Amino acid sequence: MKVVHTIEELRDQLRGQLRVAFVPTMGNLHPAHLALMKLARQHGDPVVASIFVNRLQFGPNEDFDQYPRTLASDIEKLERERDVYVLFAPNEREMYPEPQNFQVQPPSDLGGILEGEFRPGFFGGVSTVVLKLFSCVQPSVAVFGKKDYQQLMVVRNMCRQFQLPVKILAHETVRDADGLALSSRNGFLQPSERAEAPQLYAALQTVAAGVLAGNADAASLEGQAVQALTARGWDVDYVSLRRQRDLIAPASQEILDGEPLVVLAAAKLGATRLIDNLEICKK
Ligand code: PAF
Repeated sequence: MKVVHTIEELRDQLRGQLRVAFVPTMGNLHPAHLALMKLARQHGDPVVASIFVNRLQFGPNEDFDQYPRTLASDIEKLERERDVYVLFAPNEREMYPEPQNFQVQPPSDLGGILEGEFRPGFFGGVSTVVLKLFSCVQPSVAVFGKKDYQQLMVVRNMCRQFQLPVKILAHETVRDADGLALSSRNGFLQPSERAEAPQLYAALQTVAAGVLAGNADAASLEGQAVQALTARGWDVDYVSLRRQRDLIAPASQEILDGEPLVVLAAAKLGATRLIDNLEICKK
């Protein structure tokens, strides 16, 4: 695997390549990232991964400084798996040599809800860096995890609206045996919090079971999940049932009619904020 730190080196490595499959990451790689690289390998050649902790997508009181930076061990993991041909690991000056005044502004009905409501500016920061990384890598395919469900939709929407010639592939959420979705932030959990963390997924499963049993009262299903998590010590930002296609809250009749749904949640356990989601299909 070639490790490059500048856009010029990256372009040298990729000159003439028309089937690049790309996996953007912020590093601290875990098995879910490695699964994205495997999927990329099935859909393109060569596979390019990036590691860049993108300041633009962190709010002023968020964990940008604490975000784990583990480049040496990330490189070891990628070398072991042998799926990635080029790793692009730019520093901040390479990606943002001047203040990034041109930024992508996702539409508020997609980027301003759920995560966007609790993390203002987050999807603008994500979209801007993804567009910039796409421009550096020029992939034909890029892979994103469904764990960041809204991010996946924002990126798809951006590609469609800007006619970017990049096919976006989604990988299912990868979970530990107890149901906890893999995330770099899981490493912040204290042992007792790690034991509690799968309850977020359990709460989503309870909402899904309610829907599948014919309960079309979204507010009550969401409210019960929030109450159950709060009683266990979580600080819940949201548990929300939405339509898969546009993340709009479904009408009761749509729930009864089997509209494909997704329930999304974000909640803090101690100082660590976790997100998760679960798709619900009746048919
Ligand atoms: O999902 C992530 O790790 C990041 O949001 C991404 C897509 C690499 C952009 O910084």
